[in-house]
Amino acid sequence: MKNEIIVPDGKEVNRAQAAKKADILLGLQWGDEGKGKMVDFLTPKYDVVARFQGGPNAGHTLEFDGQKYVLRSIPSGIFQGDKLNLIGNGVVLDPILFRKEAEELAQAGHNLQERLLISKKAHLILPTHRLLDQANEAAKGKAKIGTTGKGIGPTYTDKVSRNGLRIGDILDGFAEKYVQARNRHIEMINSLNASAIAKGGSPVALDGLEALEKEWMQSIDFLRQFRFIDSEHFVNKCLTNNKSILCEGAQGSLLDVDFGSYPFVTSSNTICAGACTGLGLAPSRIGEVYGIFKAYCTRVGSGPFPTELFDEMGKKMRDIGHEYGAVTGRERRCGWIDLVALRYTIMLNGVTQLIMMKSDVLDTFPTIKACTAYRVNGELTRDFPFSIDKGVEPVYEELPGWQTDLTHCSKQDELPEAFINYVNFLERELATPIKIISVGPDREATIWR
Ligand code: GDP
Ligand code: IMO
Ligand code: MG
Repeated sequence: MKNEIIVPDGKEVNRAQAAKKADILLGLQWGDEGKGKMVDFLTPKYDVVARFQGGPNAGHTLEFDGQKYVLRSIPSGIFQGDKLNLIGNGVVLDPILFRKEAEELAQAGHNLQERLLISKKAHLILPTHRLLDQANEAAKGKAKIGTTGKGIGPTYTDKVSRNGLRIGDILDGFAEKYVQARNRHIEMINSLNASAIAKGGSPVALDGLEALEKEWMQSIDFLRQFRFIDSEHFVNKCLTNNKSILCEGAQGSLLDVDFGSYPFVTSSNTICAGACTGLGLAPSRIGEVYGIFKAYCTRVGSGPFPTELFDEMGKKMRDIGHEYGAVTGRERRCGWIDLVALRYTIMLNGVTQLIMMKSDVLDTFPTIKACTAYRVNGELTRDFPFSIDKGVEPVYEELPGWQTDLTHCSKQDELPEAFINYVNFLERELATPIKIISVGPDREATIWR
């Protein structure tokens, strides 16, 4: 293939330079920012939607035409016409949960076969990965991460330690590879169980494994009806052929394995760079980066959360915002917006435009607080420190609430002045434009600025 091509204005340019760029939408907090809703909303502008990391630890909710869906592994572009959706190489896939998700969608009249592609390099979550996740947590005792229990950590551990099983392996020598991995996992579970018992915890039972394996193998067969592809070639060819791609992040930047509140994080790179490794995109191929955040902040699972509220205010946010996990049903911890953390994640991701979600949840709050700095061991800082675990005290600015029902607003000029002031304040503090505002869970409850 010749590397130089002629573009419409007659110039000869390098093929790579002429290609389109992929846009990325990702969460800037601890997940559950509303990524599913916004990916669905933006999909009509794109040809392909691609997940690049995470797995069924994600729960991406979207609502339209009075219907609500929660997606875990399938990209949120699946409901918008005949767009192609890709599960990229950076994703970890549980065949059993995938099958349930796909069958539910098929029952609701959404056929996936023609529109869903799966990377041959995506790693498989084995039944024993799920048990290992539970055994790891039990062995940690009080120091547990509070994972979603879906086997995410153990699957990525096997990937990095070069023991993983991939989608492509289904096509070649699969049974043998599977048995090897399962036997290794059982040894590990037995050893973790001993630690858990020593700490007064309960061991993970292995007696249900056989039934789980049977279901898993049937689900592997179900998977075979989908197209397994070399997705790095696919995404790059799409861009060269001027097709547009939206990459859908899972979790949030504060759960990133390198930059999040380690060790209370997930096991993948949730930041923008994760889309490069999770899809085979060069950094020069990244275009817009949509950073999505809630007008306040939530976290599910263990780990530090400087602006967490333990009072009635936090309870009010949880009640009005229905802050319960889409995957585990666990209560989400709630608190004020943290601008120190947001500045940090905007920097890490090179965010070009912001999307603010769940603004309506604060409608009845008389005043709104925003953390603009931390006092760390007595010293004021606006930079996110190495640890937010101890000695971090949030410094707040208080703004008047808007005390207006935003769910009735459909255009920018209908938004109340106090709300606009809050948005302008955030834009100044974050030095990034807020381009979209969400005022309700439905696809329609979205305002462009
Ligand atoms: P994701 O993981 O980032 O896709 O987010 P989740 O689906 O886990 O959580 C977001 C929740 O907020 C879902 O229940 C959405 O239906 C809901 N939601 C999204 N946007 C809004 C909004 O603007 N207002 C309200 N009240 N709810 C919203
Ligand atoms: P979406 O994509 C919120 C959290 C878990 C736990 C930690 C590690 O819906 O925003 P894991 O199972 O990944 O090993 O758990 O990460 N967590 C999430 N929190 N939203 C998510 O996904 C999450 N995925 C994982 O609660 O604290
Ligand atoms: Mg979620």
